[in-house]
Amino acid sequence: MKLKPLNPAVHHSTRYNMKISACLFLCLFITIQVLAQNSPSADYREEHRPQFHFSPPAKWMNDPNGLVYYEGEYHLFYQYYPEATVWGPMHWGHAVSKDLLRWENLPIALFPDKHGYIFSGSAVIDSKNTSGFKQGPNAPMVAMFTYHLMEGEKAGKSDFQTQGIAYSNDKGRTWTKYEGNPVIRNESGIRDFRDPKVFWHEASGQWVMILAAGDRAHIYNSPDLKSWTKASEFGPGQGAPGKPWECPDLFELTADGKSRWVMLVSLGNGAPNGGSGTEYFVGTFDGKTFKNDNPASTTLWVDHGTDNYAGVTWNNAPYGRRLFIGWMSNWAYSQKVPTEKWRSVMTLPRELSLFKSGNLTLLASKPVKEVEKLRKSRFVLDMKKPYHATSALQEVLLEIDLSKTTSTDIGLEISNKKGEKIIVGFDVKAGQFYIDRTEAGKRTFSDVFAARHTAKRVSGSNIMKMRLLLDTSTAELFADDGSVVMSDIFFPNEDFKTLKLLQNTGSLKVIKAEGFELKGTW
Ligand code: FRU
Repeated sequence: MKLKPLNPAVHHSTRYNMKISACLFLCLFITIQVLAQNSPSADYREEHRPQFHFSPPAKWMNDPNGLVYYEGEYHLFYQYYPEATVWGPMHWGHAVSKDLLRWENLPIALFPDKHGYIFSGSAVIDSKNTSGFKQGPNAPMVAMFTYHLMEGEKAGKSDFQTQGIAYSNDKGRTWTKYEGNPVIRNESGIRDFRDPKVFWHEASGQWVMILAAGDRAHIYNSPDLKSWTKASEFGPGQGAPGKPWECPDLFELTADGKSRWVMLVSLGNGAPNGGSGTEYFVGTFDGKTFKNDNPASTTLWVDHGTDNYAGVTWNNAPYGRRLFIGWMSNWAYSQKVPTEKWRSVMTLPRELSLFKSGNLTLLASKPVKEVEKLRKSRFVLDMKKPYHATSALQEVLLEIDLSKTTSTDIGLEISNKKGEKIIVGFDVKAGQFYIDRTEAGKRTFSDVFAARHTAKRVSGSNIMKMRLLLDTSTAELFADDGSVVMSDIFFPNEDFKTLKLLQNTGSLKVIKAEGFELKGTW
């Protein structure tokens, strides 16, 4: 067969096309590499990896940061060190979700710069463009965070933590640091000067920021997110004595139709079951000053488990919901927990509300209602035989009539075939809920990890209710409609799939003992 000579023009354009294709291919390859570097891919099937909780694709994560809702997306930024599974130079990792259940990992949002590492902080939508950062059709998203300058800390200075801002005009995908950073220098003489939470205060028509400063909180005002004026201080001597104060938050809720303001403060040390934990105050706020309703000695905890720290709430959440998420670990052992490729998980997103108990107004937390969409199949728990689940993703609902019960220890054992277990129960005489993880598998990584944690019951009702969510290595107990919460992590050598009701001697009046197998979201 005679080959037709190539038309030189066609030949040239073919080569040209091939060159373009090669270039495009190279660009695509480089883009994929860069994206892969920024958000390492993971299959989320590693040992201990929770399946319906957020955890980073790889490496180290601590506090949730920059929680804000914008145009159908819940943004979750977080303290991230992409080079190792222990704490290091902090970045802001980033993920978004449309339903608070399924998270999409996005490239790292903020990298350390000459002012320091990027510590915890918050994000707002500047819909009035008070900052002047707006370019294009979207309202700018503005993040405010703490700069931690390592050189300053090493030199023994006290001003190495300052506050900076950055903005994004593409829904948090790319960020520009403000050239006037830092916007708040540290002239306080206080070394721990960090974790700004900013929000728009409608009544006074200005931005308010609350900052943790050693053993107290500082409150600031701003018209434009760039210039800040200190308005007041709250503390010291309020609540639990632990230090330092970290990751504060301040927001309005109603109790019996009356407005109340809630201040969250995380304490590096001194939590009820040891290590770090988050307390709260209930009071009033006028745009400048927070006043505690209760005597300074009143100590209230968001969560009595050991694994809910640095939790804060979303700005701009739709339908007026006050949504919270915490870091599900504890500084007492977080850097030693036995996970290999990634370290740490967030709590389930929770909805906060207030309720009255005697003369106190207290905070209740419930898993967001979206979590019910994870329910796959229902099962009933029976005193006589354990239930064998198909996976380690379960929800259990228990309701006991205490007035018709003489047993004094009631609970649920969740175990594997190796004899490892956690027990989540209620000690009737002591009036205490508990989570016992003393025999829950791996524990030698820390002296304080294997323990039984307790929390005093608040409700006086005869009907005691427990709602428990289990996800591979996490247990979250929402007792009596979320009036007492305990979050604990654990590391079994084999999944916990066997559920058994427990009682000591005596009678037990069960009103409800059922559960659901749950779907994973990764
Ligand atoms: C809380 C915290 C914050 C700080 C961040 C650093 O866990 O200590 O106060 O901004 O972690 O990663």
